[in-house]
Amino acid sequence: MSKQLILALSKGRILDETLPLLADAGITPLEDLGKSRKLLFDTNLPDVKLVVIRATDVPTYVQLGAADLGLAGKDVLLEHGAEGLYEPLDLEIARCKLMTAGIVGAAPARARRRVATKFVNIARRYYAEQGIQAEVIKLYGAMELAPLMNLADEIVDIVDTGNTLRANGMEPRELIASISTRLVANKAAMTMKHERIKPLIARLGEAVAARR
Ligand code: ATP
Ligand code: PRP
Ligand code: MG
Repeated sequence: MSKQLILALSKGRILDETLPLLADAGITPLEDLGKSRKLLFDTNLPDVKLVVIRATDVPTYVQLGAADLGLAGKDVLLEHGAEGLYEPLDLEIARCKLMTAGIVGAAPARARRRVATKFVNIARRYYAEQGIQAEVIKLYGAMELAPLMNLADEIVDIVDTGNTLRANGMEPRELIASISTRLVANKAAMTMKHERIKPLIARLGEAVAARR
């Protein structure tokens, strides 16, 4: 392992909230991440580089050691599994809830509930824990459409303001997990590069605490 530290960032909505937090912790990319087509960026710290990738790919990069650290939603981490990963810090950004939801006033679902979601592992685990038989249908987006089109009885999805559910005649039902962005670290890197990683986590932790 080189002495260089690679930090994997989730592109999309987390990135907008991540950059100010990184800046508070003293890490700034040398070019505008939003404007560039590049995926690997130098920072003001000579030994820290950033990669900007799909949120769902962050755990894979960190788990396999291609990145030492990563920032990912707890939803993504729960779905991916935590093998080979430490989760040393809650960044307290991109807060939302992972919930079940259904059509307002819908009749009770059939014995074997059809559930549309992109979080298939989380959904299977959740319904099994509840003792509810579920047929989980994998979708890649627009979950809120599935019950309206009679593709599913229920969905498992992210809820923040509830606007998306409301706009589609749906209501939140059960809370599965409260979600925020987490810092994850490769377990081997955490040991081998401890001297370098520890102060970085400390600075990020201070930046988070300063916002409370
Ligand atoms: P992709 O668009 O690549 O399929 P995605 O929809 O998960 O992935 P984003 O919408 O950028 O990507 O969401 C990234 C993370 O932000 C999610 O994993 C979740 O933790 C959080 N998040 C998603 N939606 C919301 C929301 N409406 N409000 C707050 N946080 C959210
Ligand atoms: C996310 C999520 C919900 C919505 C919830 O979608 O999948 O649809 O936000 O937020 P709300 O409760 O405030 O309406 P996003 O906007 O990320 O779109 P996506 O389908 O491209 O992921
Ligand atoms: Mg999204």
